[in-house]
Amino acid sequence: MRHFLANIATYTIAIFLISAAALFGWGRSAQLVISDEPTVLQRFAPAPGHPFEWTALGEKGYRRNCQSCHGPEGRGWDQYPKLDHTASLFLAAGGREYLIDVHLYGLTSARWGAPMPPMAHLHDLELTAVLNHVLTHFGNDQRLDDRTVLYEPEEIGPRRGQELSPWGVEKRRQEIVLPGRQ
Ligand code: HEC
Repeated sequence: MRHFLANIATYTIAIFLISAAALFGWGRSAQLVISDEPTVLQRFAPAPGHPFEWTALGEKGYRRNCQSCHGPEGRGWDQYPKLDHTASLFLAAGGREYLIDVHLYGLTSARWGAPMPPMAHLHDLELTAVLNHVLTHFGNDQRLDDRTVLYEPEEIGPRRGQELSPWGVEKRRQEIVLPGRQ
């Protein structure tokens, strides 16, 4: 009888562990679909005449791709910059295009001890959502107003495929940013 009870206990524990592992695996894969699966991302594509619902995708995309360097609240740390000046770059002439290029080709400047890596693997929809997320958070929203037109997914594709290095992106920054601006 004692053996019988011990076996039941062992099986119960084993079943519990296997289910926990399965649940954990499922949870992980459910998160991983973002940016790895264009077909899944396509679900977020706006239907003609409908606005792009980017909020949830932007938050998730920021957490997955940016916060390890720029911090959960965009405050930066160590050699990684804060993201509170992104709206002033966006509003400068040429800044709208420049910010897309930073993400597609990376950025190397003398301002920071590390480069920003290229993020060209991000799907157009996800990159649009993440850019809009940054522009509406971290204090950037205060520089925008009702007339601000945020990014649309169609803006990303035409900027892919340029011959642009992270140093080349820095050159473009010098052209667009007014002297004295961060
Ligand atoms: C591996 C670390 C790392 C990751 C991941 C990363 N960045 Fe950066 N980012 C940097 C560094 C370092 C710089 C500064 C580069 C420089 O000026 O040389 C930077 C610069 C920037 C800038 C400022 C550009 C400018 O002209 O001042 C923006 C905006 C930005 N990152 C947004 C993002 C977003 C959004 C993501 C996620 C999609 C992201 N970064 C992911 C490290 C990172």
